[in-house]
Amino acid sequence: MRTLIATAALLGLCAQAQAATATRSGFGQLADGTKVEAVTLTNSAGMSAKIMTLGATLQSLVVPDKSGHKDDVVLGYDTAQEYLSRPDYFGASVGRYANRIAKGKFALDGKTYTLVTNDGPNHLHGGTKGFDKRMWKIDSVSSGTDAKVVLSYVSADGEEGYPGELKVTATYSLNDQNELKLEYRATTSKPTVLNLTNHSYFNLSGNDARDVMGNMVTLHAARFTPVDATLIPTGERKAVSGTVFDFQTAHRVGDRIRDARDQQIRFGRGYDHNFIVDGAAGTLRPAARVEEPVSGRVMEMSVTAPGVQFYTGNFLDGTYFGKGQRAYRQGDAICLEPGVFPDSPNHADFPTSRLNPGQSYVNTIVYKFSTH
Ligand code: GLA
Repeated sequence: MRTLIATAALLGLCAQAQAATATRSGFGQLADGTKVEAVTLTNSAGMSAKIMTLGATLQSLVVPDKSGHKDDVVLGYDTAQEYLSRPDYFGASVGRYANRIAKGKFALDGKTYTLVTNDGPNHLHGGTKGFDKRMWKIDSVSSGTDAKVVLSYVSADGEEGYPGELKVTATYSLNDQNELKLEYRATTSKPTVLNLTNHSYFNLSGNDARDVMGNMVTLHAARFTPVDATLIPTGERKAVSGTVFDFQTAHRVGDRIRDARDQQIRFGRGYDHNFIVDGAAGTLRPAARVEEPVSGRVMEMSVTAPGVQFYTGNFLDGTYFGKGQRAYRQGDAICLEPGVFPDSPNHADFPTSRLNPGQSYVNTIVYKFSTH
């Protein structure tokens, strides 16, 4: 009996020691005095994720390398205000419509809606003041098997030109298996279009600051959606086989990124394309694997979304000074943005971006970290 009690006590202790914890803290204030908060999720395996209320942004993500050395593996800034002063969606929750809508126009039930054009002729990432620049509320914080934070934002009917009041939540949770799970949910008061995603810029070398050209990338995608010169899909779903877009087996990012014989590489200045994830959208399935050979860090991403935008930080031009005053240059990060396809409101045969009242929108992303 005594042994039983002792074992139970020991098990209890172990469970406690292994629990993941969520800690709430301040994260400074914006120039206008708005206070920003953060929640840090920490697990017992050496990982931690800091999420701030501005943009429901993944501000830092600390992951051990193969020798147990911990580093922050996402680009971003040290202070909240910089996320507004030099915005580039670092770690942000992007909405209402992540990626592009051609000419900033779409029609819904016979009515045409006009959005701001903030990317040449097109609408990008929700407009002038998208969800990345809004203050989200912390709804709940909890520790346990998963450390979890739920953030919410209510987007007013007509905000940035989109119809319907949209109620959105972003739930981040971290477990002891080094899985960071992110789930976006939304409901609307009127038919609308949406595409919520996270725009983290991963550099798995961490503070060693190598560029990502040597990263080995696998994309579970047999097809991608080619684009025009303004990065709007042509409507085609093209097989990747035999092209520089074939990442069905692992390839170094840098091996083919300069192959200007491929018009798609010229249009994207490298990779900035939506890949159609194999398997059935709506079910969580593998989408991508990234391996940084020196640190040995590996990230595997599973998604429910139909597509993933693979972007190699092509617009980083060395004028953005991020955490620790480090200049971010082209090719310094990999973004993998799961969602519906770009410009889907204008492509009837793409997976729909429409949400009706009474329906629930869900987009789930799991980032799993390990070492090789
Ligand atoms: C997405 C787009 C890119 C770029 C970045 C943000 O990944 O596809 O073209 O706009 O966001 O800079």
